[in-house]
Amino acid sequence: MSAKPRVVHELPTDLDRNRLPRHVAVIMDGNGRWAKRRGLPRTMGHRRGVDALKALLRYCRDWGVEALTAYAFSTENWGRPLEEVEFLMALFERVLMRELREMMEEEVRIRFVGNLQALPASLQEKIALSMEETRDNRGIWFTVATNYGGREEIIRACRTIAAQVLRGEIEPEAIDESLFEKHLYTAGICHPDLLIRTSGELRISNFLLWQMAYAEIYVTDTLWPDFDRTEFYRALSSYQKRERRFGKVGSRE
Ligand code: IPE
Ligand code: IPE
Ligand code: MG
Repeated sequence: MSAKPRVVHELPTDLDRNRLPRHVAVIMDGNGRWAKRRGLPRTMGHRRGVDALKALLRYCRDWGVEALTAYAFSTENWGRPLEEVEFLMALFERVLMRELREMMEEEVRIRFVGNLQALPASLQEKIALSMEETRDNRGIWFTVATNYGGREEIIRACRTIAAQVLRGEIEPEAIDESLFEKHLYTAGICHPDLLIRTSGELRISNFLLWQMAYAEIYVTDTLWPDFDRTEFYRALSSYQKRERRFGKVGSRE
């Protein structure tokens, strides 16, 4: 049986191929509100949220974005009703298995960042399997932040480094930004250039605190399940109009 030919999305003509963000990070917020507005259970919003993420991954890939990182579950999200937490864990597992073959066909390299040991054992197995299977793929880097917290990540790095100092393996003076980054979950991945947050909230909710130091932030009122091609186009278009100064004096001054 031959594989179904996949539709390749063309980059909208008024976007500049050479000025795309290399790495897009997204806080997929508003699933619950999306469902509530329709009189549906919150879980329906999460289901539809998966579809929106799948679509975004394909646009990123087709349009030439090298890396996409999605915030799927924060260290604070354990505070939600048990029913919702359990639904999400089961959803992650199901989606991962369902999508693995397609990710292989599309050369996606998936990785998970966060405190993965605290996730249900069966989900951990699927995570390990999917990372192993897609390891040698050559397409987009797709990172899913699951049980991720920026503060937890930084503390964890500090502990590891402190232990190395204590064992006399490194001098405190040797600790610099580049060494520190090697101990973050995201070691080896470039920093996000563009952060997209849906549902209008103007905060970063403990996401990639270190890595986001100079990310351009784009917030839309659209709820995550409604985030589509037009929305992504708008985010990229806004990004391309900005001047990234990194603390220097701008070229437009
Ligand atoms: C984001 O949508 C998904 C997760 C945090 C897992 P929410 O579930 O936070 O939706 P709202 O913010 O309640 O609408
Ligand atoms: C951020 O959304 C976490 C994820 C999208 C996974 P939240 O809904 O948890 O964030 P707050 O509570 O509005 O800050
Ligand atoms: Mg939310």
